[in-house]
Amino acid sequence: MRTQVAIIGAGPAGLLLSQLLHNQGIDSVVLEARSRDYCERRQRAGMLEQSTVDALRAAGAADRLDREGLVHHGIHLRFDGRNRHIDFPGRTGGKSVTVYGQTEIVKDLIAKRLDEGAELYFDTPVTAIEGIDGDTPRIRFTRDGVEEVLECEVVAGCDGFHGVSRPAIPATVLKTYERVYPFAWLGVLADVAPSTDDLIYAYSERGFALHSMRSPTVSRLYLQVDPDADLADWPDERIWAELHERFALPGWRLEEGPIIDRNITPMRSFVAEPMSFGRLFLAGDAAHIVPPTGAKGLNLAIADVRVLADACVEWFGAGSRAGLDAYSDTCLRRVWRAEHFSYWMTTLLHRDPDAPAFDRRFQLAHLRYVADSEAAMTTLAENYVGYAWNE
Ligand code: APR
Ligand code: PHB
Repeated sequence: MRTQVAIIGAGPAGLLLSQLLHNQGIDSVVLEARSRDYCERRQRAGMLEQSTVDALRAAGAADRLDREGLVHHGIHLRFDGRNRHIDFPGRTGGKSVTVYGQTEIVKDLIAKRLDEGAELYFDTPVTAIEGIDGDTPRIRFTRDGVEEVLECEVVAGCDGFHGVSRPAIPATVLKTYERVYPFAWLGVLADVAPSTDDLIYAYSERGFALHSMRSPTVSRLYLQVDPDADLADWPDERIWAELHERFALPGWRLEEGPIIDRNITPMRSFVAEPMSFGRLFLAGDAAHIVPPTGAKGLNLAIADVRVLADACVEWFGAGSRAGLDAYSDTCLRRVWRAEHFSYWMTTLLHRDPDAPAFDRRFQLAHLRYVADSEAAMTTLAENYVGYAWNE
């Protein structure tokens, strides 16, 4: 098999990249380890920056997003018996964000790609990446139990945090930066209309809670839990009781409904540098992870592949490697800004079980400042809607 761009992984990064390349007349093959059903069911985040919505629209993959996406003009910050609504458009030159599940984006892109006859293969794990320091890299993968080889000119490693792409960069070249947090998120999908207009980010002495949504009839709720928490210890009654306590505000009520999905996500900050080596280019979770508090993971993945698609157009169209050579530095500027914002939101809102009482006083002082200072609210707003490095 031969193609121009071999794409490893059919998450949002790999799928959108193959769509953007196709729209520019560049061939790709997407190899995905898991089944289509698995990829389409996995519950993930769902907060899109305006630039992410614009990218999906420009790619021609936003019909359902435009119909079903929920536009939000701000967030609520809740702590210490207070609720501060932070408006975005007035502080960011008119920008908003859109709630639309990553799962839905994946479904839309898979359907569109297959409709257009894309070479997109599920149940096809990549086992090795060879020759990335030469001109014709080779990808080894397994299909129906048989090992096959795909030759290409460019390899896009869109295979998430646990994939095979990042380890293909020599250890002498790759530098990684990591921070692990002493908590995780328990996320539930509940069959009940959201109890709020905009998302609620709540800090309490019992820990962080987030009220998000997926549609006018489905709520998405998160609770800070211990990093080693077990879903078996979290029956529905305990989840609701904890949510009620953490969101408590006089005059406000959280509606309960049947829980239809639940999962626990660890929290980490991680960056790999550089994001490329020879003909291999990492994109999305393969190169970086953010804790979900700032809602940046999906947006960073989309931003990476926009840069990579443009660089491929330069390479295959004009024969210039300039875009590919600049890829890592271009992406890392945005990545580190989002890493810092995600860390900042995380430490602002979570209860660190090991922090001394002194630090908790600092945290409350910081929360009050963010909720009262115009400058601080503008900082939060401009980062949340997406700080524009490349636009
Ligand atoms: N061969 C083929 N595919 C692989 C391999 C492999 N060896 N290893 C992993 N994959 C696949 C995974 O099965 C997964 O479907 O790569 C895909 C990576 O997709 P995602 O994890 O969704 O990563 P990405 O596209 O970068 O999207 C990042 O996902 O975790 C969230 O918060 C994150 O929203 C962000 C988004
Ligand atoms: C979500 O809706 O899943 C979501 C929203 C905002 C976040 C994280 C997750 O910060």
